[in-house]
Amino acid sequence: MCGIIGYCGHRPAVPLVLEGLSRLEYRGYDSAGLAYLQFDTLKVIRSEGKLSRLVDKVAQNANTFAPIGIGHTRWATHGLPVEKNAHPHKSYNGVLAIVHNGIIENFQEIKNVLLEKGYEFYSDTDTEVLANLIADELDNLFLEKFAHKFSDDRDFFVKKAQENFQEFKADMEEAFCRALQKAHGAYAVVMLSPLIPQHIMAARLAAPLLMGIGVGEYFVASDVPAFLPYTREVVFLDDREVAIVSTSSFEVKNILSRKIIEKEIHHIPWDLQGAAKDGYKHFMLKEIMEQPKVLRDCLVGRLQNTDILLPELDKISIPERIRIIACGTSYNAGLWAQYYLEQLGQIPVSVEIASEFRYRKPIVSKNELIIVISQSGETADTLGALRLCKELGNTVLGVCNVLGSSVAREADVCVYTQAGPEISVASTKAMLSQMVVLLLLAMYLGQRKNIGLEKRKIIIEELMRLPDILEKTLPVLREKAQIFAYKYTFAKSFFYLGRGTAFSLALEGALKLKELSYIHAEGYATGEMKHGPIALIDPDFPTFALLFDDEYFSKVRSGILEVKSRQGHVITLLQEGTTLDNDDLWYIPKTSLPEFLALPAMQLFSYEMADYLGKDVDQPRNLAKSVTVE
Ligand code: G6P
Repeated sequence: MCGIIGYCGHRPAVPLVLEGLSRLEYRGYDSAGLAYLQFDTLKVIRSEGKLSRLVDKVAQNANTFAPIGIGHTRWATHGLPVEKNAHPHKSYNGVLAIVHNGIIENFQEIKNVLLEKGYEFYSDTDTEVLANLIADELDNLFLEKFAHKFSDDRDFFVKKAQENFQEFKADMEEAFCRALQKAHGAYAVVMLSPLIPQHIMAARLAAPLLMGIGVGEYFVASDVPAFLPYTREVVFLDDREVAIVSTSSFEVKNILSRKIIEKEIHHIPWDLQGAAKDGYKHFMLKEIMEQPKVLRDCLVGRLQNTDILLPELDKISIPERIRIIACGTSYNAGLWAQYYLEQLGQIPVSVEIASEFRYRKPIVSKNELIIVISQSGETADTLGALRLCKELGNTVLGVCNVLGSSVAREADVCVYTQAGPEISVASTKAMLSQMVVLLLLAMYLGQRKNIGLEKRKIIIEELMRLPDILEKTLPVLREKAQIFAYKYTFAKSFFYLGRGTAFSLALEGALKLKELSYIHAEGYATGEMKHGPIALIDPDFPTFALLFDDEYFSKVRSGILEVKSRQGHVITLLQEGTTLDNDDLWYIPKTSLPEFLALPAMQLFSYEMADYLGKDVDQPRNLAKSVTVE
């Protein structure tokens, strides 16, 4: 789960690669590096730590107009996050360098074979093994043709390549494909070599990789924002495809058959502004504050009087059961939706953590609809679960934000959440958008079953009002969030309590606090507190409680008072028109969908806490936005 980029075009590649990496840094940020060609020499610059350190190093070392380059920002899987493990990795003989996102599962076996042949390794990574495997395949071809290897006479090969690089292009392609056929696991990989100076080669298997098609320039990257200022025309590479990209054209082939594949060019509607901070201190704050727009965008074209329009689903038959599968914040959105899907769709729903589901040999009935929720559409465990369900013959509905992502393409049908690019590692607006889409889905199922018209009318009316209410409320929520965050910075641990639709929000509130401020936090069902966790309560262990004006009100109120009577401090988020005997009351406007105000309130609380404590809000330690490894 790293960010990779390659550039081939008419501009200096190094600044473009660095710029692209800055937009991919959310994918990993423990080290970074780039490679380019200085005439016929492969130059690699790498640095431990954040991208800014690489930028400084490049400023001191690279004065280049090279039109071709590759770059990488890393989230460590094999080997510590130190410079020697940073990408790009060169083959031992310097014939090529690669950047890689994924895990080569059989790297140790391959390494053993190469070690026996006398190869030396300078890092602990699987990527360096892959680089050498490609170089080894290339040497096998060279031995057949020229009776010596690249390292025997580098100048001979470089000179030959200058005379006829087409021949070397075919050899490079062959070696690249042969090596990748031997590699098991997942990879998105981009390669650069002095033997094909006007080209880069790229390939993918179970890790995201796409191409940006500009005018006289091409990009290969893990995600669209990397090249968004330069082009919005995109080609999505599929598994086992290799792209051979030059400064003037590109070709995509199947790695196994080597047959050319005609690829469709897609236009991406996202604009650069959506991927910029817009004057906010952090992406996270910007993304929280733009939630009214997200709400509107999610509803556009999907409501007509009392009807929910989700034409993508019209062909799906009404299931007997629904199983929701997701990870992280998307899982919390799924848990939240369980209440509405059961109430409004009258269909039993179970919710599963993808990494647990996929290895448990689950029993899934044929009449279950699988809903896979993923902002990125690339989370490895979620994708694994999706594939398993498809193998079992079930219909899979993807709820996904990123256009053309693996989930979006592999699910039988996909409903897009319309949140726009989410850059901050901690997910905020994506969850809100997932909640809207899942609520629409619940109502849609009710509509197809001809039930719950009255309830649907009330919810639709409320949904239409919500963007304006949220817009007015957000600045007030932020002020309150600051006050409470500063007051509670003493806390080393926090409980988050909720019941009914507030339970999953309590889980999400706790997740946001621990992700951002590294304060231990636990989300709990209010009614379950008395079965053990209440033993932890004392004046140093505060609670954030959600008290909605719903059928659980009096029970939740009792739960909060039980905490208070054990000298626990409580912040209670409640709706106007209700009250409680407590000091720290945090009011939100009255609405029948309080979750859409409570969620941003908790996001802001965590944001303010983390910012006050001086934490790295957009890139919390040890995390990555899109976890494309298991
Ligand atoms: C990572 C991110 C979380 C996200 C989770 C699932 O852990 O840090 O914010 O909720 O992955 O991601 P997905 O893209 O599948 O929703």
